[in-house]
Amino acid sequence: KRRVVVLISGNGSNLQALIDAQSHDRLSGEIVAVVSNEAGAYGLKRAHEAGIDAVALPHREYDSREAYDSALITVIERHEPDLIVLAGFMRILSPHFVERYEGRMLNIHPSLLPAYQGLNTHARALADGITEHGCSVHFVTEELDGGPVAIQAVVNVEAGESEESLKEKVHAREHLILPIAVNWFLEGRLRFAGDSATIDGVTLPRHGMR
Ligand code: GAR
Repeated sequence: KRRVVVLISGNGSNLQALIDAQSHDRLSGEIVAVVSNEAGAYGLKRAHEAGIDAVALPHREYDSREAYDSALITVIERHEPDLIVLAGFMRILSPHFVERYEGRMLNIHPSLLPAYQGLNTHARALADGITEHGCSVHFVTEELDGGPVAIQAVVNVEAGESEESLKEKVHAREHLILPIAVNWFLEGRLRFAGDSATIDGVTLPRHGMR
């Protein structure tokens, strides 16, 4: 079985979507470990309850990003992963880390990339008055939230939509598309091709599958 390590920082509802897929025999691999940079992350509890190795690696105990990322690599390598999934991992990774896992690291991001890279995506989207918003799963490259997109889910922004309701709608879609992209990768269908992602050998458009 292909081995997956999931990195989290908080609630872990996207991790839960992967755990649920696994427990229904719908994950084409195995989640072998969950690592959080926040010791109190609820996602660690979810992992533990699912019988998955749950590791807290608090970044505050390290002097520099490089030192932390090196420790993170050591922990990850113990589990010999085929794929790293960033599921609400709220830290910027150093080039050294990104290079090491390039082409085998996916991130879930709450916007239709390349729109709204970074934080506070829902508030910014609402402030701009856009009518379509959503989420993306993309390969992680050195450019923050800039790597090739595998898949997106689009939601309509209704008149008078609140940030909270938009966030909730997008979250529900995240839970749908993350397991899809992870399975595509684990099945050898989704590949990183530098500037783009391919599925079954076909180059995906900039916004991935929709
Ligand atoms: C998700 O909405 C994810 O897209 C976002 O954090 C949330 C984590 O929720 N990730 C980022 O903003 C990455 N920069 P979860 O812990 O319930 O999965």
